[in-house]
Amino acid sequence: MIDILDRVRCKELQSKIVTAEEAAAYIKPGMNIGTSGFTPSGYPKAVPLALAERMKKDPFKINLWTGASTGQELDGALGEVHGIQFRMPYQTNKVLRNEINKGEMDYCDLHLSESAQLARYGYMGGKIDVAIVEACAITEEGNIIPTTSMGNSASYVQTADVVIVEVNTTQPLELEGMHDVYVPLDPPHRLPIPIVKTNDRIGTSYIPCTPDKIKFIVPCDIKDHTRPFGEIDQDAKRMSELFVEFLHAEIKAGRMPKNLLPLQSGVGNVANAVISGFINSDFKDLSVYTEVIQDGMFDLIDAGKLNFASGTALSPSPEGLERFYRNIKEYRKHIMLRPEEISNSPEVVRRIGVLGMNTAIEADIYGNVNSTHIMGTKMMNGIGGSGDFARNAYLTTFFTASTAKNGLISSIVPMCSHIDHTEHDVDIIVTEQGLADLRGLAPKTRALEVINKCAHPDYRPMLLDYFERADAATKHAQTPHIIKEALSWHERFIETGSMKK
Ligand code: COA
Repeated sequence: MIDILDRVRCKELQSKIVTAEEAAAYIKPGMNIGTSGFTPSGYPKAVPLALAERMKKDPFKINLWTGASTGQELDGALGEVHGIQFRMPYQTNKVLRNEINKGEMDYCDLHLSESAQLARYGYMGGKIDVAIVEACAITEEGNIIPTTSMGNSASYVQTADVVIVEVNTTQPLELEGMHDVYVPLDPPHRLPIPIVKTNDRIGTSYIPCTPDKIKFIVPCDIKDHTRPFGEIDQDAKRMSELFVEFLHAEIKAGRMPKNLLPLQSGVGNVANAVISGFINSDFKDLSVYTEVIQDGMFDLIDAGKLNFASGTALSPSPEGLERFYRNIKEYRKHIMLRPEEISNSPEVVRRIGVLGMNTAIEADIYGNVNSTHIMGTKMMNGIGGSGDFARNAYLTTFFTASTAKNGLISSIVPMCSHIDHTEHDVDIIVTEQGLADLRGLAPKTRALEVINKCAHPDYRPMLLDYFERADAATKHAQTPHIIKEALSWHERFIETGSMKK
């Protein structure tokens, strides 16, 4: 109990310390709950677990708004008891994915930079009834010090009727000072976001809150349940090498400074592997303006190559998290966490000229990219921040292995079965086969560049054949397609289990 009282520095709030069960009892069926959390970092754990226990005995559902995906104790526990009616703005949980794709849960998949603003305006089912946020401490004034992610917490606290704070005693107090909390005014009163360098500090180190708004404080000693990364495979290594070679050529051509431009790297195995590959480059004095800070970035900081990383969440593996905690005094000099509305701000991303690096599920011959849907219908995770960066970056790159599912699927297809990022946004596509530079090319030239550089040799002749027949059939139209055949590769996979003929 001593530890928790040390962390709740506002004396008048100490009487509001209750158990997770008492706080969870306040939540009513159908309420809109806004939580902290972005990836399995900084999300509330004790209250959602108690809520899930309640739902097991007496089933009901809530609407859940978070920063992005969260951990097992929130998405997993509530998903397993079918306790979520509506979810936004991003998820990666297998149980939720299943519920979404069976039509049992409504899922609003949207650009992360817009999610806080939509919540503040009262879209998506009205106002937030209860905000549940994880904190490492509460200040003397009642302000909330966040933990390993920022996400949408500040806007949810600002908007909610009632706030429940989970003070997590496993989160080190050294996190205090790593956050830069800035909530923009809404139009027509919004001002420019004054970030011109990745390390510019523009806000407060806490989420502003007053003691009267905090209804309950719940102690929690459950650690962030972060996810391990897969082994870095040869394909990912090759993609990273190809991209590093390309960046060297850009520097030589005078299109980029020697220390590059601020890097953004997406979520998942491939993105982590690509950024890890920078360790073998001779780039130095790098900076990062991104959404998630993964293990590869700790490697770059340790190697003295990365000066500063601005993001909205730490998203390390379990070993990466331990490494961060062990060396937090050093890492805090190099890392800042901001609300996702700022880390993903189109205005800032365009101004500072970010190098956007994200992963595709599939890309088509003209450079359209699908990041979200399997075979055009089933949700994988969501668009997350990829659109915020892809649309606005100085250079927009998508990585994908040229095939999936042991070669039975070509990730380069005649037409994407769903499009998240259009040909107008995509500059570079990289597979382990090669790098297609699509900048300044007309559609038919783009198609040949994508097919010849990126497609797997097993599928390249099929794609060339399709393109040539489409070109002839449309009499050399701007963007040749045979409409009846364009999605036949997906149809064949659904019917036979392979895209091969
Ligand atoms: N067709 C069908 N399935 C495919 C596929 C394709 N063309 N390409 C990949 N997959 C499957 C893989 O087989 C794997 O399936 P499994 O989970 O059953 O093993 C799964 O998709 C993930 O693929 P993987 O190669 O491990 O990629 P990843 O972990 O790097 O994730 C995305 C790739 C696209 C799913 C992920 O990056 C994502 O959700 N992106 C959207 C959000 C985003 O980009 N956010 C970042 C913004 S900062």
